[in-house]
Amino acid sequence: MATTFDISPEKRAGQLHYYYRQLFVTPQPVLRRNAGLSGKTAIVTGSNSGIGLEIAGQLVDLGCSVILAVRDESRGEKARQELNSTRNIPPDIVQVWKLDISSYDSISTFISRVKGLENLDIAILNAGVYKFTESFSSTGYEESVQINYLSNILLMILLLPIIKEKRIGSAPGQICLVSSDAAAWSKFEERSSSHLLSAFTTKMANWNMADRYATSKLLGQLFITELAKHVPPSVVTLTAANPGFCNGSGLGREFHGIIYLIVMIQFFFLSRTCAVGARTIVHAVSSFGEQAHGQYIEDAKIQPMPPIIYKPEGLRLAKQLYEETLDELSFAGLRDIINQVSKTK
Ligand SMILES: NC(=O)c1ccc[n+]([C@@H]2O[C@H](COP(=O)([O-])OP(=O)(O)OC[C@H]3O[C@@H](n4cnc5c(N)ncnc54)[C@H](OP(=O)(O)O)[C@@H]3O)[C@@H](O)[C@H]2O)c1
Repeated sequence: MATTFDISPEKRAGQLHYYYRQLFVTPQPVLRRNAGLSGKTAIVTGSNSGIGLEIAGQLVDLGCSVILAVRDESRGEKARQELNSTRNIPPDIVQVWKLDISSYDSISTFISRVKGLENLDIAILNAGVYKFTESFSSTGYEESVQINYLSNILLMILLLPIIKEKRIGSAPGQICLVSSDAAAWSKFEERSSSHLLSAFTTKMANWNMADRYATSKLLGQLFITELAKHVPPSVVTLTAANPGFCNGSGLGREFHGIIYLIVMIQFFFLSRTCAVGARTIVHAVSSFGEQAHGQYIEDAKIQPMPPIIYKPEGLRLAKQLYEETLDELSFAGLRDIINQVSKTK
């Protein structure tokens, strides 16, 4: 059944509605009695700082064991101590595991370790970057597309069969990709390229960091709409969720000069805390059940994705991107994994 929204995709994507959300909407925390997360195990990537650290803390407060999947274990250990110092919990409730999602080898090593877990119910793919300057990863892709999109998709699919097998009870597992309002503001000029992904291997005519960040998040949403058709929601529920514009994180660490000043002014007038932003991500993995499958969660509600996603062009692009991405990551046997997960038994 098609999902109905209480707002049109066009209105939600507009700047006015963004200002309204930032200024007047505060998602409420998930309550332990409603969450049903007690005893579950969750992975949160990029959780040594910012929104990821807050997500991890909220999951612990709801009764989860949490693996902080971080690229710098010493910073992860500091985060673990911070979480433990304000909570009366056994020391092994929060663990720190190494994961650098810019490296396929690191993802593979991490997945081997995850296979050894007794239980796994939830994965929150939060690690992300906002590149100030254009740079390319060793795979040839522009770095934000590599990190925010390709590496996260690889991790998402490799986690599917593990969550299918190791979730507690019959409730579906949950995978949430942390996305952004910005996805709706992407010009996505690369969509005219006959091979979409190849468009991200060459320099932009005029580097536009905001547009590239937005596009890297839009790609994730496009892919999830298609992947959700192949993964039964009763096995793993897949969502993309937006924390909103949050202060106190490290996302703008590369910003300087006039851009830095503009962002600081926006922080002052518009932003929410990372703790408030994290609430929506926790709602995404606890509040909606199977109806959230393949959907976008914002301010603790299922909301429309960017308008293009509902247009014939968007449906075609999602399919094309899905096939190209599975081809690009074919070394990991993702098509076989999805086929296996698609069988509900
Ligand atoms: N802040 C906002 O206003 C906002 C709004 C919408 C969406 N988001 C999204 O929210 C997520 C969290 O961002 P944040 O604002 O909390 O920023 P942040 O504090 O910089 O968090 C990003 C996390 O990702 C990690 N990370 C980056 N590259 C990685 C890699 N190659 N391997 C493993 N981890 C990596 C970072 O680790 P290091 O500390 O080691 O670099 C950091 O822990 C991102 O996906 C971002 O796009 C943020």
